Amino acid sequence: MGKTKLGLALCGSFCTFDKLIPAAEKLAQKYDLTVIMSEITANTDTRFGKTEEFKERLRQISGKNILATIPEAEPAGPKKLFDMLLVAPCTGNTLAKLACGIADSTVTMACKAHLRNGRPVVISISTNDALGANAKNIGELINRKNYYFVPFRQDDPQGKPTSMISDLSLLEPTIEAALAGRQLQPVIIS
Ligand SMILES: Cc1cc2nc3c(=O)[nH]c(=O)nc-3n(C[C@H](O)[C@H](O)[C@H](O)COP(=O)(O)O)c2cc1C
Repeated sequence: MGKTKLGLALCGSFCTFDKLIPAAEKLAQKYDLTVIMSEITANTDTRFGKTEEFKERLRQISGKNILATIPEAEPAGPKKLFDMLLVAPCTGNTLAKLACGIADSTVTMACKAHLRNGRPVVISISTNDALGANAKNIGELINRKNYYFVPFRQDDPQGKPTSMISDLSLLEPTIEAALAGRQLQPVIIS
């Protein structure tokens, strides 16, 4: 049997990228990895690094071109490109769109296309408003069929009281549980 086909969709939580790259390297050892990037991540340099450098690393890790436009992501549905789609890091922006059924970016299009096949999406949040404006969207998606969450915690309760971030060391166990139709527990960690 071939490797499980894993789509890894990156959103614009740029400060998470330094931890995401080694996590992607680990995932590539086990899964057949395809990288998807939201428009902002594919086209924006920030104080956390240059997009071309991230893209080159991710191309090396996956051994494939990156899907970075809506037309490139759309075949995820009809061609059944992935067994599993991991959105990591998932911004508050993308979380809110997914909760509302909006598909106007590469990542949200990939999710919409993939979900039409009844296949699992795993969300790894990294957002300052998880316990603010996006609390209701986490609540919405956690209760929706075929969505699973990488366990998450408050990362700085005093300094950023509404911020929450998933534990990237739990990506693989969350994926494996989701492939078996189960949410890895506990989903809220300390
Ligand atoms: C330097 C920088 C860091 C950011 N970090 C985060 C973050 O950690 N979490 C988040 O939800 N948004 C963060 N944002 C905002 C998102 O990039 C912004 O909402 C963007 O529209 C997200 O688009 P996407 O969800 O399609 O990737 C950051 C923006 C910049 C410029």
